[in-house]
Amino acid sequence: MTDDVLVVHGGSPLRGEIHVRGAKNLVPKAMVAALLGETPSTLRNIPGVRDVEVVTGLLEAHGVTVVRNGDELVMDPTRVELASVDEINVHAGASRIPILFCGPLLHRLGHAFIPDLGGCRIGDRPIDFHLEALRQFGATVDKTPDGLHLSAPQRLRGTKLELPYPSVGATEQVLLTAVRAEGVTELRNAAVEPEIIDLIAVLQKMGALITVQTDRVIRITGVDRLDGYVHTALPDRLEAASWACAALATRGDIYVHGASQVDMMTFLNVFRSLGGAFEVDDRGPGGLGGIRFWHPGGDLTAMAIETAVHPGFQTDWQQPLVVALTQASGLSIVHETVYENRLGFTDALVTMGAHIQLYRECLGGTPCRFGQRNFQHSAVISGPTKLHAAELVIPDLRGGFSYLIAALAAEGTSRVHGIELIQRGYGDFDGKLAALGARVERSAPESVPAQ
Ligand code: EPZ
Repeated sequence: MTDDVLVVHGGSPLRGEIHVRGAKNLVPKAMVAALLGETPSTLRNIPGVRDVEVVTGLLEAHGVTVVRNGDELVMDPTRVELASVDEINVHAGASRIPILFCGPLLHRLGHAFIPDLGGCRIGDRPIDFHLEALRQFGATVDKTPDGLHLSAPQRLRGTKLELPYPSVGATEQVLLTAVRAEGVTELRNAAVEPEIIDLIAVLQKMGALITVQTDRVIRITGVDRLDGYVHTALPDRLEAASWACAALATRGDIYVHGASQVDMMTFLNVFRSLGGAFEVDDRGPGGLGGIRFWHPGGDLTAMAIETAVHPGFQTDWQQPLVVALTQASGLSIVHETVYENRLGFTDALVTMGAHIQLYRECLGGTPCRFGQRNFQHSAVISGPTKLHAAELVIPDLRGGFSYLIAALAAEGTSRVHGIELIQRGYGDFDGKLAALGARVERSAPESVPAQ
C-alpha cells in the first residue's frame, strides 16, 4: 500500500494560533437533517473534513442541490429522488454517516439503503440500536448481499424506546426519524452530547417539537411539515482538545480560535489538574474568541481518567491525552468505557519509549460493560518518559493525531504513514501544522511497513 508519508522532526514546541471550525460530529448530521425540509437550508462554519464531502455526494445522489460558498453550504431538497445502490456506494466511502439517511429518506421516499459502514477501527461498532429503533417506528429492514434495504409501507409512527447504551448515533437516528413520524416518541437513556443538542437546535429551527428532560429522556412530537434552517455549527471541541494536548506534549503554547469553554469544561478540568495552563478569551457576543493552551513549565502531574458519555470525559479526548500523560510524573490510569478497543494505538507509543501497560480489568471508579470480557480497555502509564522517533502507521483518526503529537514531542525524525486519515477529521491540517511551526515535510509515497 503506497501512502503519503509525513516526515516529522520532533523536539520543538508547537507555538502559534489556529482556527477550529464547525464540529466534525455535528455538521454532517445537520446536512442530513436538511433532507427533511420542504425548503432550502443554510449551514455555516463548515470544516474541511471528509464526512462533509461524503454527505454532499450522498445528498446530490438523492437529487438535493448543494452549493458551497466559502464556509457556508446551501442545500435545496425540493426535489428528492431515490439514488441507486451503486451511487450510494460510490459516495459512502468509509463513513458511518449513511446510516442516518434512513429516517429522512423513509419519510420522503418510503425507501432507504445502508451500505456496509466504515469508520475508525476502535471496536466492532454495531448498528443494532439503529435497526431496532427503525423497526419500532414501523420500517421493514431486509439484509441483502450489498447492504440493508429499508422500506416504510405506511407513515412511520412515534414509539417508546430505551437505548441499552446512550449511543450518539442511535440518538441521532431516533431524532431524525421521530420529528416527522406520526405521534409522540419517547427516547430513554439518550445521548446528550453538545453535538446532539446542536442537532436538536437545527431540528427546532425547522419546526420540530423536541424536549430534552433532566434524566436524559428526549420526547419528540412528530409534525407534518419541516422547513429549511439557517444555522452556524458549534465549534469542534474534539479538535480543540487535540491541539491542547499537543501544546502540553510539546511544551508549547497554542491559541485555538473558536474553542468554546462550555463544551470543554470536563476536558479543561483535566487539563488544569494535569498541570496545563489555559485562558478563556470570550470576546462577548459576535466575537469569535477562543482558548489559549500552554505548558507553564515544570512537571506534569499523573492522574486517573475514565471516559464516559457527556458530561463525562469524552472518549475522543482520550487518545491525544494519553501522549501528554506519558510526559506526566507518576502513574496515570485510563479506563476507556465507551469503546472496547480504543487503546490499541498505545503499542506504537511504547515503541517510542513510553511505559504503558494495558489491562482487561476496569481500572476506574465504575465497572463498565467491558470488564472481564477480554477487552484490554484500561491502561497504566508511567512517566515521564523521553520519547524517541519511530516509523508510525496511522491506525484511526484520533490515534493518528496522538501519533503525530508523539512524533512532534519525540527526539529525532519520525516517518508517519497514512496521514490522510488525520486530514479526514482535522480540516486544513497542513496549514495548522505550519502555523504552529511544526518542522514537518511530505516525502514521496512509499510502501507502508508491515504492522
Ligand atoms: C459518535 O460515534 C462519534 N462519531 C464518535 O467520534 C464518538 O466517539 C462516539 O459518537 C461517542 O461519543 C460521529 O459522530 C461521526 P456511539 P457513534 O453510537 O455514534 C455502541 C471521532 O473520533 N453501539 O455513541 O458511532 C458502540 O459500539 C469518532 O470523532 C452499539 O452497541 O458512537 C460503542 O461501544 C470516533 N450498537 C458505543 O455504543 C449501536 O447500534 C458508543 O457508540 C450503536 C452503538
